[in-house]
Amino acid sequence: MADTVAETERLILREWDEADEGRFYAIMNTPAVMQHLGGVQTPEGWRAAFERLRLYQREFGHTFWIVEDKTSAEILGFCGLKLVNSPGAGDKLAGTPEIGWRLRESAWGKGIAKEAAIASLDLGFARFGYDRIIAMTIPPNAASQGLMKRLGMARGEELDFTDERFGPGVNPQIVFAMDRADWPAARAAALA
Ligand SMILES: CC(C)(COP(=O)(O)OP(=O)(O)OC[C@H]1O[C@@H](n2cnc3c(N)ncnc32)[C@H](O)[C@@H]1OP(=O)(O)O)[C@@H](O)C(=O)NCCC(=O)NCCS
Repeated sequence: MADTVAETERLILREWDEADEGRFYAIMNTPAVMQHLGGVQTPEGWRAAFERLRLYQREFGHTFWIVEDKTSAEILGFCGLKLVNSPGAGDKLAGTPEIGWRLRESAWGKGIAKEAAIASLDLGFARFGYDRIIAMTIPPNAASQGLMKRLGMARGEELDFTDERFGPGVNPQIVFAMDRADWPAARAAALA
């Protein structure tokens, strides 16, 4: 049984286990979910991503964790923390803690990502002791940018970059950031 990382009003954030590889792929690999992420993934592409997500947990003690409905135990997506390792991220950004999220379509628009993100930022600042956590997306991803702004994250244009793995459809990467000192007030505003 995978370890629970955080529990919120409606959600469990937990580590990944073997069975999640197939379960996650089956519900998450849709054109809508993957629209701003380079399109639907092949099984090989997802397998490599799944291995990376498990590696981050082993290496850093955190990853983009599974988000589960607390009542039904249904997988809703992932949300959590990794360290920036995108090829093309500049020296100022590489290795910085990064929050990320991806939910299945049926979970959108209910505040689930905000709830999971607040729990992840709490962990990042309190348990892992980070001073700054960034988030990145591409300009057309209005939902992801909306969430960053709703969390009170500030735009950091000086950190924007081109991810060398991807073409213009998944670039440029635009960056937002939350500093530890700003999180208590931002957290209260995000919950209001
Ligand atoms: C981005 C994503 C995780 C948002 O999940 P969600 O659970 O629907 O978001 P929430 O309901 O928690 O919304 C929180 C805030 O985000 C903003 N937001 C959410 N969806 C939005 C949209 N479509 N357009 C603009 N802002 C949006 C709103 O400010 C919202 O706050 P509000 O409800 O008080 O207005 C979801 O759309 C998703 O999984 N998308 C596909 C994967 C993806 O692109 N991931 C990000 C890669 S960078």
